[in-house]
Amino acid sequence: MNLEEKDKAYIWHPFTQMKGAATPIHIERGEGCYLYTADGKKYIDAVSSWWVNIHGHANAYIAEKIYEQSKQLEHVIFAGFTHTPAILLAEKLLQILPAHFAKVFYSDNGSTSVEVALKMALQYWYNKGEKQKTKIIALENAYHGDTFGSMSVGERNTFNAPFDPLLFEVYHIPVPTEKNIDTCIQKLHKLASQNNVAAFIIEPLVQGAAGMQMYDPDELDLLINIAQKHDILCIADEVMTGFGRTGKNFAIEHIQAQPDIICLSKGITGGFMPLAVTVCTEEIYQAFYDDEQSKAFFHGHSYTANPLSCAAALASMELLVSENCQQQIQYIYNSHLAFSNRIRRNKSVKDVRVTGTIIAVELNTPEGSSYFNTIRNSIYDFCLSKGVLLRPLGNVIYIMPPYCITQTELEIIYNTIEEVIAHHQEKLINDNLQYATD
Ligand SMILES: Cc1ncc(COP(=O)(O)O)c(C=O)c1O
Repeated sequence: MNLEEKDKAYIWHPFTQMKGAATPIHIERGEGCYLYTADGKKYIDAVSSWWVNIHGHANAYIAEKIYEQSKQLEHVIFAGFTHTPAILLAEKLLQILPAHFAKVFYSDNGSTSVEVALKMALQYWYNKGEKQKTKIIALENAYHGDTFGSMSVGERNTFNAPFDPLLFEVYHIPVPTEKNIDTCIQKLHKLASQNNVAAFIIEPLVQGAAGMQMYDPDELDLLINIAQKHDILCIADEVMTGFGRTGKNFAIEHIQAQPDIICLSKGITGGFMPLAVTVCTEEIYQAFYDDEQSKAFFHGHSYTANPLSCAAALASMELLVSENCQQQIQYIYNSHLAFSNRIRRNKSVKDVRVTGTIIAVELNTPEGSSYFNTIRNSIYDFCLSKGVLLRPLGNVIYIMPPYCITQTELEIIYNTIEEVIAHHQEKLINDNLQYATD
């Protein structure tokens, strides 16, 4: 068997209906924004490989730091033992996070960082003797991951339907906008007054998997303030928005309120190694810090705080806070704004949204907005044929590039999207709005 046949024979790929799935593209190497195949094709990675690769592929500095660490210590059990990269990374994260955060809990993927946050919030109230506080409030359309807790707080949809009977009950409130904010506040007040809510979880400013839905910091501030006034812990899930994506290091830097817990993963190691953290306040930590053993936080994984991952993250943080990277983030934002003005008036464009380094272009289609909009596959294939990796969420095309992207590379992506829009417009006219049914 050749490698392609072996892939088909042995591997079950994520988020993929394997029946009829196209043969996966075999990537041999990456460099900067580019992914290269063995047969000489190259693709601009316009989505930073599931939003993780913030400094581009095969970044030499991060690679070097991992190599150095691997000669020193590849892994060590993290209960009863510790190591320098984990200590330095925790210190670094607390330096760049808002000052009210105090303790870093390590894990290894975004879903788990959310799972940890939920368990931390629930046990916080349990340890304090408020055992009635067992409910969670989340936003509609949310995505927080694939584990049972993170699925429970996410939107109920096709992805988690088989597990629906097993997901715990969660109160959902609408994503706040200027128009519906009064309804959101009323709903939140009513739920919060029951005195049984442990935590309110949000994806601040951008709901990624929901189709890069963006909302304003002012409304979010109002909701967090209300929740905290009712003694509800607020969890900011910044697995996607963290590390510069929204233009600031963290999305919560755009708001005044201070969430009690923050979840971070994806960009943390620049896409080199799996790692996540759940960071909390001293007050939360103190509810576990006790003479009673049973009040400890009994959670952990084999690879918790893996030294290679921590070394990669330390290097990635150094690059992130550098002047060059911060300038790139601003430059990407300004480019996105200019591009949004270029395409905004096109009739087949329903909406263009920009937050920091993320731009989302929502297309008008007869099918309406949905992850399963059939237009998605043809756009995906078309962009690949142009050498650009974009993974539309239904009828929403978005760019979330590595920060090292150049003007030329951004222009290639923008031009490809403009071609998609033009083609879509033509089809809409030709098919008399029947485009989506072909
Ligand atoms: C906001 C948010 N939370 C959690 C997750 C889950 O992260 P992971 O895929 O690393 O488990 C994601 C993934 O897209 C996400 O966008």
